[in-house]
Amino acid sequence: MSGSDSAEYARTLLRVLGPVAERPLAMPPPYDSFLSDDHTPVEFSLTFTAGSGPTLRVLLEPGCEAADLAENGRVGLRAVRAMGRRWGFDTARLDELEDLFFPPDPEGPLALWCALELLPGGVPKVKVYLNPAASGQERSAETVREALRRLGHDQAFPALPPSDRHLFLALDLGDWNEPRAKVYLVHDDLSAREAAGLTRMTGGPGPGAISRFFRTAAGLDTVVGPDAGSDADGLAALDGPGALDALDVPLDRRPGLTCHSFTETGADRPSGFTLHIPVRDYARHDGEALDRAVTLLRRQGMDPAPLLRALSAVTGRRPEDGVGLIAYLALAHQRGKPTRVTAYISSEAYRVRPPVDAPLPRAVEAVH
Ligand code: TRP
Repeated sequence: MSGSDSAEYARTLLRVLGPVAERPLAMPPPYDSFLSDDHTPVEFSLTFTAGSGPTLRVLLEPGCEAADLAENGRVGLRAVRAMGRRWGFDTARLDELEDLFFPPDPEGPLALWCALELLPGGVPKVKVYLNPAASGQERSAETVREALRRLGHDQAFPALPPSDRHLFLALDLGDWNEPRAKVYLVHDDLSAREAAGLTRMTGGPGPGAISRFFRTAAGLDTVVGPDAGSDADGLAALDGPGALDALDVPLDRRPGLTCHSFTETGADRPSGFTLHIPVRDYARHDGEALDRAVTLLRRQGMDPAPLLRALSAVTGRRPEDGVGLIAYLALAHQRGKPTRVTAYISSEAYRVRPPVDAPLPRAVEAVH
């Protein structure tokens, strides 16, 4: 990115955040934003593909200083519409869903987030994240079904795999070749074996690629299992009655997520699949999380150097001195595009979570 692009994007971020960008960090966060663990309303991510440089994105909560969630949503909508005017895109897809996601008395955990893909040229690509539980958790499946239907994806809802909750509905707005509608699902106690069966796209990653990514990101490679090969330590620890196969260890500290994207209307299958592993709850410290990220990137033929530079750009602390800087690691497949690996990078503007000693899934700790 050129110097003038990055200066322009810095101004853009300040404008989208609004007055909260001026808020002294000595004050507490404006509210307990769900966007990040320490409630900073800003999270970065780097998306890698083999053979080209990574893309930088930033996730923002424009309404984070609002008095309540309804106002938070109104501020968010205004911010997205202002971006549309500035960069010349229409927000029709979002406008059509307003009554579903912005009821007068919305429920948590968010109202509206937006993500900007900071491409060279100074004009970002824009994504909006909406809350299916806005009209109540019990209505969230119906809200997602109706939103997909209004977007022309009337066959999409039945194509989703089973899950425990609908977390976000996300929309691409603006200048995309193939704008997507994406559904993020929460899977409590997800195991590598189950994750491998959750993709519904044709083509895309095979079960082996998904479960391998899962195990490495969650730190289960060195832990357990009849198929752990040469890992004698891990085998010994979990041999015998009650032993768990690494493929069956559930993520029981923070759930894994999947995302299913729909592009052409009327399709009865998603065109994309992403698996998100909340690495921060399964690592002692960020040194460990970073090692896993590097392993996963190298395995895909991607250069991890930009990730190391990105971490030192957001914090002066050593990775070993906290956990949560890398929030998620994700494996993404979109039809017709190369595989992507994404690392989500926390701002830690307010707080660093101290390292922990027991990062394994509780089910594994119990057997130890
Ligand atoms: N902080 C929330 C979580 O950890 C939401 C969130 C922020 C999120 N960035 C994300 C979820 C990236 C998935 C991927 O769940």
